[in-house]
Amino acid sequence: MSVRRTGIPASGSTRHASTSAERRTHLAFGSGIHACVGAAIVRLEAEALLSALVRRVRALHVAAEPTYQPNNIVRALGSVPLRIVAA
Ligand code: HEM
Repeated sequence: MSVRRTGIPASGSTRHASTSAERRTHLAFGSGIHACVGAAIVRLEAEALLSALVRRVRALHVAAEPTYQPNNIVRALGSVPLRIVAA
């Protein structure tokens, strides 16, 4: 789920932003004058990747415990071993 600047439901709902107005309120690419310069290319890449996944993959299963990178500031995944079932 995206980190949204406003409108995070108090209920803790995991509903994803669905309208274009809602999608523009997240902070994944920063905001204002220092907003991410690469956002447009990353959106294109993500769309291409997800479209290919939907066409070619029937299921993704986590195959082993994910690992995290050692970092005191950012909690970042190092690896997520997957088992891929072709469509
Ligand atoms: C999923 C991938 C990416 C994410 C989540 C991301 C996220 C961000 C965020 C949050 C900022 C704002 C940082 C701040 O407020 O100080 C930022 C800035 C920036 N990003 Fe990205 N970014 C991504 C990919 C890219 C790519 C592929 C490029 C280059 C092709 C890029 C180039 C930049 C640049 C140059 C800035 C600085 C803009 C400025 O300070 O004026 N980013 N990015």
